[in-house]
Amino acid sequence: MGEKEEAVRETLKKYGQEHLLLKYNEMSAEDKEKLLEQIQEIDFEQILNLYENTKKEIEVGKDKIEPIEYVNQFKLSNEEREKYIKIGEEAIRAGKLGFITMAGGQGTRLGHKGPKGTFKLTEDKTLFQLICETLKEGSQKYSVIIPWYIMTSRENNDETVAYFEKENYFGYGKDAIKFFKQGELPMIGTDGKILLDKNGFVKKAADGHGGIFEAVFRNHLLEDMKKRGVEWIFVGGVDNCLVKMCDPIFVGLAIEKKCLVAGKSLVKTSPEEKVGVFCKRNGKPSVIEYTEISKEMAEARDKDGELLYGEGHVLMNMFNIKGFEELEKNKLPFHSAFKKAEYMNANGEIVVPDAPNAYKFESFIFDAFSSLDDMLIMRVKREEEFAPVKNAEGVDSPETARKLYNDYIANK
Ligand code: UTP
Repeated sequence: MGEKEEAVRETLKKYGQEHLLLKYNEMSAEDKEKLLEQIQEIDFEQILNLYENTKKEIEVGKDKIEPIEYVNQFKLSNEEREKYIKIGEEAIRAGKLGFITMAGGQGTRLGHKGPKGTFKLTEDKTLFQLICETLKEGSQKYSVIIPWYIMTSRENNDETVAYFEKENYFGYGKDAIKFFKQGELPMIGTDGKILLDKNGFVKKAADGHGGIFEAVFRNHLLEDMKKRGVEWIFVGGVDNCLVKMCDPIFVGLAIEKKCLVAGKSLVKTSPEEKVGVFCKRNGKPSVIEYTEISKEMAEARDKDGELLYGEGHVLMNMFNIKGFEELEKNKLPFHSAFKKAEYMNANGEIVVPDAPNAYKFESFIFDAFSSLDDMLIMRVKREEEFAPVKNAEGVDSPETARKLYNDYIANK
């Protein structure tokens, strides 16, 4: 037995994870090496803590939650609007805006075979294509190339890159588009055992959209952005075909307010809508999830009759490059999600579950807001900027998103 194998066996024994070598003896030398390396990369203490956390109730009560100020852009005077738009337009024209699409998710609810961005939403266009069209429109309007960074995962990176090549980058230019992979964490079963995948390797899953920070640093993207003169980075999900990344008033307001982070908000359709809302948590900008908020808070209104906690957060944020740099110092917490995951059991059989069976650990991009002191929140119109594709059917499905998209185009 080599030194490496011996060390790995010892660690596995200490943490009760010996089953990870189930297929080791049957593997080629190369695969053996790969598996040992995978295991050596695991922080077993972290996995143990994450497993313990899955058994705890989420504690909310301790935080001091308060409403957060936001800008209702529709209540600005014409003069103010024009001022911010001018500032934003100048910045965009000067090449200070970059764009990140987070496309590393698994898209399990949609169930599309392949990366979510390759899902054909309209008769002839995929999500990636629709997003690219909006980006192109902005680029043409301001005679500038807005660099587009696409976050993928190990699972979907190659397919995503191949798709863009096949589509000739939708005519946006290969040099303007850069792909980068987010990190991963092992998945565990309800007994705390790390899962094996169908080939006998460690089963890993993308580490959540909050993984964007670590991935940006690891891939040296800030250097690339700086080289290109980018100062503001709009970050959106791949599953909103109406995302408006190039928005002068938003950029102008963020510049004027000197914030390092900004978020677009949507008014909640009702107090019961299942969406997280912007708030202040212990004095810092944050998002309170719909599962965390009490009925009383969700229904509370201000003197104008607006919901006190009514500014929905739907992954439309913008960071100043300095904000990203600040975030390099902070590690985000991990949350657990209970998901369906195919795996190899202790008998070497492949199990394809029909109900959730495993924990996946994810960090959330909005947990980063509280590391920054202040945040600009700007309300936008839902019908102009939000058409999510989450589920295969029903709410937030291709059918509802297609309708929203078509209505938007018809009224444009
Ligand atoms: P969701 O939280 O809706 O997850 O992601 P999902 O992976 O797309 O879908 P389900 O939950 O498995 O059905 C919101 C956005 O964040 C990105 C997604 O690609 C989507 O654009 N995301 C999510 C990542 O980039 N990485 C992740 O690890 C998770």
